[in-house]
Amino acid sequence: MLNETQLKHLDLFGFVILKNIFTPKELEILRSEFEIACKNNELKQGPYDNTYRYMNMLGKDTPFYASLIEDPRFYKPITQWFGDKSFGFEIHSYRYVNDTRWHYNDGSPNIYGYGAKYQFPLYEPVTAQTGALRFLPGSHKDPWQSELRQWWPFEDFKTQEKHNTSQAAMEIIDSIPYYPAECELGDAVLFDLRIMHSTWGGGIDRNVSCISYFHYPESPEEFDTMKKIIPSHWGRKDRWDQEEFDYFFSNPNKSPIRQKWINSYKELLALSSNT
Ligand SMILES: [Fe+2]
Repeated sequence: MLNETQLKHLDLFGFVILKNIFTPKELEILRSEFEIACKNNELKQGPYDNTYRYMNMLGKDTPFYASLIEDPRFYKPITQWFGDKSFGFEIHSYRYVNDTRWHYNDGSPNIYGYGAKYQFPLYEPVTAQTGALRFLPGSHKDPWQSELRQWWPFEDFKTQEKHNTSQAAMEIIDSIPYYPAECELGDAVLFDLRIMHSTWGGGIDRNVSCISYFHYPESPEEFDTMKKIIPSHWGRKDRWDQEEFDYFFSNPNKSPIRQKWINSYKELLALSSNT
């Protein structure tokens, strides 16, 4: 459960750091499942070669990971923040390399399609200089987000030479004022997918994981946006992680929470195909 101050931080600043959300024993289990996922990934993509890799953790080989998305420690705060109709969509593990440009998440180019994400390290704590997420507090909201996006380090459309994936943007990351979400092992940071964030100074093969949820739309603008987002998640047969995604949403143990999420996906997909 989040307290009043944490909820206020999420609303005003767009993130909150949660201390000791995992026990040392749980971290051990997470690491052993992470290693299984890495092996599976290497079978598909070849031996690890210091390149960026990501893995879906909802499949049958990573059951503890998969359980986290419905675990009240993670799901309950999302419903406190975004309401009871919030629904889960992914758990990923990453083998990151190098710095991460300034950006916001979810592939939705506006303020109306959004959700929340937990991110946590597995093997090493993260600090401002070693790959912790850096946030621009409050940048999940307009008008500030729109103002930021008019400046090239935050500009995600490659219409000019300088934009947020250019060499110039990678070089300027560290000179932009930020708040670092430093995490010890066992901590996680919870943030709004719309917040501007980056990382700096992390080494090769930096291992972190994420649990992500969507906010169920409420206003007409939010419905319009989610109608565009949902078909890229639900009802597809060509996902890179189809096996893990399908396994989780086959709901083998008949979880009522998961069934509620499936119903939400179906409702939103039906709205998309009716437009
Ligand atoms: Fe991101």
